[in-house]
Amino acid sequence: MYGDDIASVLISEEQIAEKVEELAELVAKRYPADAPEGDLLLVGVLKGAIFFMTDLAKKLTVPTQMEFMAVSSYGSSTSSSGVVRIMKDLDKDIAGRNVLIVEDIIDSGLTLSWLLRNLSSRNPASLEVVTLLRKPDALRTQVDVMGVGFDIPNEFVVGYGLDYDERYRDLPYIGTLNPKVYGGK
Ligand code: XMP
Ligand code: MG
Repeated sequence: MYGDDIASVLISEEQIAEKVEELAELVAKRYPADAPEGDLLLVGVLKGAIFFMTDLAKKLTVPTQMEFMAVSSYGSSTSSSGVVRIMKDLDKDIAGRNVLIVEDIIDSGLTLSWLLRNLSSRNPASLEVVTLLRKPDALRTQVDVMGVGFDIPNEFVVGYGLDYDERYRDLPYIGTLNPKVYGGK
């Protein structure tokens, strides 16, 4: 539906669904259903993580609550600077809660490491990360994550929540973008 904007399908809808189930099992194992800290709190990072977050939540076998945060990192649209601004903060206090950050993609890791510092200063009982995608070759800082869906090549990807200039989020798969879209050949 986007013509030839998508150069290739990197991860299919079926592959994503399978991986989400695996990650849900991993998450459910880590958190007891009747934790004294109360229900697990998923913190989704808008907007990219919404598809992953809702699909994951539906597969989890422990009670969860959901909160969202929006952050924006200064810099060009396709690379991160590590200077992060909160566009929408959490509505609730997370002190004493088991918090699981749900991310779409770890690229340089700078956004996430900032977010981890920010949220840990709010004194959650625990703080972990699950990310659907990670680009190992782009990492510029070490970040510990509990779960990773797919390690992918250092290419710009879209779909399943991920956008280029707000487009392509609605694709059910993860694809690479034809360079002509962002001004390449
Ligand atoms: P860093 O570099 O801080 O970046 O780990 C994380 C954020 O940058 C965005 N990002 C992407 N978005 N396709 C996208 O649609 C990509 O290939 C991509 N790489 C990074 C994303 O918002 C992520 O949370
Ligand atoms: Mg984005």
